[in-house]
Amino acid sequence: MTYRPLVVTGTDTGVGKTQAAAGLAVKLCAHGIDVAAFKPMESGVIGPVGTDAEILARASCSGQETSDAMVYTFRTPVAPVVAAPEEGIVVETALVMERLAALRERHDLVIVEGAGGLLAPLAPGWDLLELAKETGAACLVVVANKLGCLNHSLLTQRILEDAGVTFLGFLFNDTGAKDPSAVTNANVLRRTSGRRIWGEMPRFDLAAHPRAQWGGALPPHFDVDAFLAALKV
Ligand SMILES: Nc1ncnc2c1ncn2[C@@H]1O[C@H](COP(=O)(O)OP(=O)(O)OP(=O)(O)O)[C@@H](O)[C@H]1O
Ligand SMILES: [Mg+2]
Repeated sequence: MTYRPLVVTGTDTGVGKTQAAAGLAVKLCAHGIDVAAFKPMESGVIGPVGTDAEILARASCSGQETSDAMVYTFRTPVAPVVAAPEEGIVVETALVMERLAALRERHDLVIVEGAGGLLAPLAPGWDLLELAKETGAACLVVVANKLGCLNHSLLTQRILEDAGVTFLGFLFNDTGAKDPSAVTNANVLRRTSGRRIWGEMPRFDLAAHPRAQWGGALPPHFDVDAFLAALKV
């Protein structure tokens, strides 16, 4: 079976992209899919432990090394396009694409997490949207369920649709910080976007659970079969 790369983006940084990608990797692995993960650029990295790439490599069922799931890391916690020159690193986007292509050769499905939101600049003139366009990826948008998320969600949808990228819809995340909008956001977004909402991820501490249980990060009754069908080429 051939699947598009799955690009997991979000309405902002820190909204639960890694949480979602890790949950999806474990859930899809349990479904018999050979999943690999890819976090090509990561800022604010001081050591390999606890990085997104490490979490994602652990979540994939392909026995991936962390180094296989990452390309560039930066110590400075700013957008890669700023961090790279500050740290004397020249980002080669062709290398990122080569590494992704190599993972696609070896695995059924590659889950890609960007850095920040969809248009956060990764390299001069290059962002996650470009990666998604170049690879024919399908894009899932993680939404932090809080006031303001409707605007960020709809902006991200508009950009994806205008670019002709396969858009899978939205996955809500319970931020823990309840405001009155959290009760209505999902229904309003379903109506206004006309797109699928894949449920809301509950509060779930990955570190407190063995890897095999990380599928619990996903919404209860998450429809794996429908999700996989949407990812087919
Ligand atoms: N549903 C949840 N339950 C418990 N903790 C969560 C949940 N979602 C996110 N978190 C925690 O919130 C923090 C941010 O989440 P996460 O790292 O998944 O965001 P992100 O969008 O990947 O961020 P970045 O832009 O830095 O990659 C992490 O410490 C994560 O463990
Ligand atoms: Mg992350």
